[in-house]
Amino acid sequence: MSPIVEIRHLKQHIGQTVTLRGWVRNARTSKMRFVELRDGSGFVQCVVGQADAEPESYELAGKLTQESAITVTGVVQQHPKTGAPEMLVKSLTLVGESTDFPITPKDHGTAFLMDNRHLWLRSKRQWAILRIRHTLSRSIRDFFDGDGFTLVDSPILTPASCEGTSNLFSTEYFDEGTAFLSQSGQLYLEPAIAAFGKVYCFGPTFRAEKSKTRRHLTEFWMVEPEMAFAHLEDVMVKGEALIKFLLQRVLETNQEELKILERDTAPLEAALKLEFGRMTYSEAVDKLHELGSDIKWGEDFGNDDETILMNSLDRPVWVHRFPRVFKAFYMEVDPQDDRLALGADLLAPEGYGEIIGGGERASSLQYLLDQIAHHELDRAAYEWYLDVRKYGSVPHAGFGLGLERAVAWICKLPHVRETAPYPRMMGTLKP
Ligand code: 4AD
Repeated sequence: MSPIVEIRHLKQHIGQTVTLRGWVRNARTSKMRFVELRDGSGFVQCVVGQADAEPESYELAGKLTQESAITVTGVVQQHPKTGAPEMLVKSLTLVGESTDFPITPKDHGTAFLMDNRHLWLRSKRQWAILRIRHTLSRSIRDFFDGDGFTLVDSPILTPASCEGTSNLFSTEYFDEGTAFLSQSGQLYLEPAIAAFGKVYCFGPTFRAEKSKTRRHLTEFWMVEPEMAFAHLEDVMVKGEALIKFLLQRVLETNQEELKILERDTAPLEAALKLEFGRMTYSEAVDKLHELGSDIKWGEDFGNDDETILMNSLDRPVWVHRFPRVFKAFYMEVDPQDDRLALGADLLAPEGYGEIIGGGERASSLQYLLDQIAHHELDRAAYEWYLDVRKYGSVPHAGFGLGLERAVAWICKLPHVRETAPYPRMMGTLKP
């Protein structure tokens, strides 16, 4: 019996006879039969020739259909030109036949592909994107774990909103009435810093925004660090270190995937090397005016504003100190200018826009009470949160990085829908 190996390890088996298990990506038949096999770990060409293969295997190879599951045994050799491993097949068995796989090499519309997302996952491009997502997920944990942060899982069912009440999904919750799907774990992390100092949560987050843009999902994954004795500056320093760590990891781990996506890695390498830019909101508004936007001071950026601003820049840029009027109730006021909040967003280059949002949190109890009244929030729902300001309140700060937005930028995708295995957006709930 020859050993069963994964395609990713084939280079270590040149000259040996091994068995592979996987699915037929493509089969071409002439006198020689060529089967492109994928097993989830990689792709390899299998050559089935009449002289080397058993007669039944040779015959079967001539009838293979796209996405049939097979096992193949043969000798691993190096492609004479490319040097890539390939297999000279001796025997081949059919494990599961596939008839009329709906996604063929021809062009399908996005709607069709989205309806068949469960099958679309098998395509090379989707494989590459989701492997990079995996690298990011794992590296996010490595970054914070290696830096002394404690993982504090925040709940998904919550009684109150974090980022404003206009975009909450709600559900019935027994005798307690309505519960909301979490928009952010931040309010739960702030109390936890008094127990652990530096904490993070990383999980699904929900926004019922009626936005059909290339950046909006209704369910996305967000990593949120929160740090005690920290200020706005710490957010920008930590966020930059995180992004650079992630870029480095992807460039080290996913060259094959980046190649499949035809991603020009120069902008990623530049972002890794260069110091990130910084500008205040007011400077960003001036710059936007130069670039032709009609944004008024005091207005939040629209998607177009972020795109034009970031098309003009060669590296990620922090925009900080926003007008308080459109920022969340919990943000600290700028001591230099009380019209401003100590928030910072990181905008990604190449037109991608915001991937991180965060800032320093208000540490005064009275200020938060005023804010809760001003935003017409239900004070009773926030009493527990206010306790943070009663028992040893300290300056603290944190941020949230949206995983899918980071994947979209790093892979240079036109839309976030391809960044999640099963994306949830307005108008998309299946499969
Ligand atoms: O700027 P946001 O709303 O910040 C917060 O939720 C803070 N409570 C985080 C914190 O300070 N702990 O969201 C943070 C990030 C955005 O920069 C973006 O990357 C992502 O979450 N995000 C979305 N991603 C996809 N679809 C959406 N609808 C998103 N909304 C936010």
